[in-house]
Amino acid sequence: MFGNRIPKGTKFPDNIRLIFFNRFLTEITGKNCILLGDNTNECFINFSISGIIAGIIYSREVLQMKKMILGAVPLLAALCAFPLFAQQASRSTGIIIDHYATRAFVTGIIPRADLDTIVHAGIRTPSAGNRQPWYFTIVQDLNLAKKIVPQTEDGNVIIVISAAGDGKTNTREIIDCALATQSIYLAAQALGYGSRIYTGPIANVNTTLKNDLGFPAERNAVAAVWVGRVSADVVSGASPRKAADETVTFK
Ligand SMILES: Cc1cc2nc3c(=O)[nH]c(=O)nc-3n(C[C@H](O)[C@H](O)[C@H](O)COP(=O)(O)O)c2cc1C
Repeated sequence: MFGNRIPKGTKFPDNIRLIFFNRFLTEITGKNCILLGDNTNECFINFSISGIIAGIIYSREVLQMKKMILGAVPLLAALCAFPLFAQQASRSTGIIIDHYATRAFVTGIIPRADLDTIVHAGIRTPSAGNRQPWYFTIVQDLNLAKKIVPQTEDGNVIIVISAAGDGKTNTREIIDCALATQSIYLAAQALGYGSRIYTGPIANVNTTLKNDLGFPAERNAVAAVWVGRVSADVVSGASPRKAADETVTFK
């Protein structure tokens, strides 16, 4: 069968189920070739009709190949999807691990939708017994914000996290508020803003600014987060941390 010309309009027997353009043979013979196969054997037929082979009729081998390919599709899809999941996962851990306390804020409004998202991260924080003891006060007024953090720039906000109790001995509320503080701090950085946690000014907030902030007498601030825009050439960056072998043990 090797070298036979196939006349135009040839009808193939029912048991021949493969016409397969064989690039390898084409390269060897310099002619367009097709590979015909039936249930028992395969033969090569010189195929010199100029132009492209009209179509592919599947053979048992091709069907088997097709099954293999179809079987491989989920695997290929999983392999293709893995980098996306990995990227997604590394994006999340990246924000948690690569954050830094911003030192160089610039002026610029933070849209309300972003403020809502940032504070929603605080609202979603886990708390002991799900008591959610916190209150979030977003200080947009520059004069008031500067009384808490004097370096505040126009458009920056100071988010004050407060809870019932004196802010010193109400341990459970303080821990919950601390977690909410961290969520807010990270959410701001996830949205591309700079953020920095503050406790230094809190004593002053509780002694002199509670009225300005609208706090009832029994409530006190626990922490504040400065959130604002950062310029491309920020001088900020995370400081070194202790090595894992200094702080981590496995028992
Ligand atoms: C609970 C807490 C209180 C902080 N209080 C202040 C503060 O009062 N003033 C200040 O400049 N930075 C404050 N920071 C920021 C820390 O100095 C900063 O997170 C730390 O130096 C690590 O910075 P880095 O992540 O950029 O390396 C506070 C951070 C935390 C977590």
